[in-house]
Amino acid sequence: MQRFEAYLKANLPRVDSFHPHYNKAMERMLLAGGKRFRPLLLLSVVEAYEPLLYESALAPALAIEFLHTYSLIHDDLPAMDNAPLRRGFETLHITYDEATAILVGDALNSEAFYRISKAPLRDDIKIKLVELLSRDGGTYGMVLGQAIDLFFENRPLTLEQVKFLHTNKTAKLIATSLLMGAIIVGLDKKEQDRLYSFGIDLGLLFQIQDDIIDETRSEEEAGKTTGNDEDKNSFINIIGLEKSIEEAEELAKDLESRFKLFEPQLQNVLKSIIKQYLYRHR
Ligand code: IPE
Ligand code: IPE
Ligand code: MG
Ligand code: MG
Ligand code: MG
Repeated sequence: MQRFEAYLKANLPRVDSFHPHYNKAMERMLLAGGKRFRPLLLLSVVEAYEPLLYESALAPALAIEFLHTYSLIHDDLPAMDNAPLRRGFETLHITYDEATAILVGDALNSEAFYRISKAPLRDDIKIKLVELLSRDGGTYGMVLGQAIDLFFENRPLTLEQVKFLHTNKTAKLIATSLLMGAIIVGLDKKEQDRLYSFGIDLGLLFQIQDDIIDETRSEEEAGKTTGNDEDKNSFINIIGLEKSIEEAEELAKDLESRFKLFEPQLQNVLKSIIKQYLYRHR
């Protein structure tokens, strides 16, 4: 975690220009914190299998955090969730204006792929990383999920459809974070698939818990605008709080048993990052 934070601080996007707050706006949400869940998933897989590649994996890990941060900045815009608080700070469109928030999001999106292209990794690996991050963080994943999330506000979906929504808007980026780690260390296809499908269910659990947070936590606790899902197809609005908690617990138990089949060194490094999601039901 500390190594990733230090790398992030040393590798913020910085550009010389006469714009009065271009760099400041760009780095604000990155420096505001966040759990760094996705980059730490990638780095854990690398640390478990090829610790010598850890240094080289920092650039793609940062790329994932850039793309994720862009998705949050856009998610908070008035045209989307209209949220004034994120990571304990005022959102960019409040501090500056909507144009700034849109453009910082755009920049962090393309910056993610720029950083992968410059990473000290083999070209074929970098192309695969670009493929996975653009697939799951874009058209075929996060963007599709966000499109469904927003189009179907106040139009109730079935539980199956909500799972599809959550899988796309959140779970695929989480799954691809594990998969990108697997690509960097050269795990075989079977191991890749196992990590990816674990990541999909972990991501689904993560978004169900995020829906529970919106319902049950204060803004101070969450560091972001909560009580904001009234119009959404959140788990809470579809099946209620109690059933959502039950669903989360069941999913967590299933994930826990699959986690135990991972190689011990992978369990070791992943455990601290995911234990709060898997073992919350205890
Ligand atoms: C928030 O993501 C948006 C969701 C997909 C639930 P995180 O909960 O990972 O937010 P940060 O990165 O810690 O701020
Ligand atoms: C957003 O989901 C997921 C993204 C792809 C950004 P939410 O709208 O539930 O995320 P929060 O609750 O604002 O963090
Ligand atoms: Mg949203
Ligand atoms: Mg939101
Ligand atoms: Mg939410």
